[in-house]
Amino acid sequence: MKFYSNIYSATKKNLKKASLLIKLGKVIAIPTETVYGLAGNAYKTIAIKKIYKLKKRPKNNPLIVHFSNIREIQNEAEINDQLIKLVKYFSPGPITYILPIKKGSRISKLVLNKKNQIACRIPKNKTFLTILKKSQVPIAAPSANLSNKVSTTRAIDVQKEFGNKISYILQSKKISFGLESTVISMEKNISILRPGPITKEMMEKVLKIKVHETKFKNQGVAPGQMRKHYSPGIPVFLNQKKAKPNGALLFFGKHKTNKNVFFLSKKYSTKEAAAKLYILLRRIKEMGFRSISVSKIPNTGIGKAINDRLKRASS
Ligand code: TXA
Ligand code: MG
Repeated sequence: MKFYSNIYSATKKNLKKASLLIKLGKVIAIPTETVYGLAGNAYKTIAIKKIYKLKKRPKNNPLIVHFSNIREIQNEAEINDQLIKLVKYFSPGPITYILPIKKGSRISKLVLNKKNQIACRIPKNKTFLTILKKSQVPIAAPSANLSNKVSTTRAIDVQKEFGNKISYILQSKKISFGLESTVISMEKNISILRPGPITKEMMEKVLKIKVHETKFKNQGVAPGQMRKHYSPGIPVFLNQKKAKPNGALLFFGKHKTNKNVFFLSKKYSTKEAAAKLYILLRRIKEMGFRSISVSKIPNTGIGKAINDRLKRASS
């Protein structure tokens, strides 16, 4: 029997091939340190169109563009002093900056928001950085999942999500965070549009100014901060102590029974919980449970980002 697989390990040869595919305008899946990205050449509108189509993503929801360093960002976007500081401390890493696009930039207009701003991120994953350097183009990459669904953190989950509609998925050794990057807008002040691994407190410490948080209920306003998002495809209930009939319990901490219980972190680590969240949400659905009850999760550090995603998953 012959198995069809579109998953490739990150060998030198495969990275070269992947970089060429990107350059040519093909869409492939590349791991980052947060989640998998569905990646395409940001200069090529044809690649961007393909990404929107594959994800079934509404056209008004802009895409993050990935760069290998700040000079590459500066080629396409207007930078500022605060950006330079934040990049120095947190990039490469799980943070995305929204900046005005530079006049004359060749980046496809389709990735921009209505104000002609571009979301820029320098990822920390070796595979992704190598492809950025080899292809020598900025790479647009939303999370590699169907629109409004849970992001993917493993090659096998990307494959299940898209089947053979994408021809090339690069294998990842390790995804460190498991949750999407923090997204910040940098207009009059710095405000967090999507909480993530880089927290308000971390940024305030570096910038020595207040960083604002947009409230969950206001977030229909910010581009792409869709309310109904991150859905595992079955109902999610928050702050629960028990599973519903035919449902599973997703639990933070130690629990006396194991039956239908899935553990985010037995050692009370929000970091571990973030890394396991999407894998467990997907697994519970695949096993045929009818709902997911989630226990209370501390709202500190990356816990804020976990609660943000779960709130949307449950809405
Ligand atoms: O960790 C991540 O950020 C991953 C990896 C692949 O880099 N990417 C990711 O992309 O999560 P996506 O498309 O799933 O989520 C990006 C979010 C969306 O809510 C989108 O609306 C917002 O960022 N966004 C993108 N470009 C924007 C822009 N120009 N202005 C405002 N929001 C933007
Ligand atoms: Mg996404």
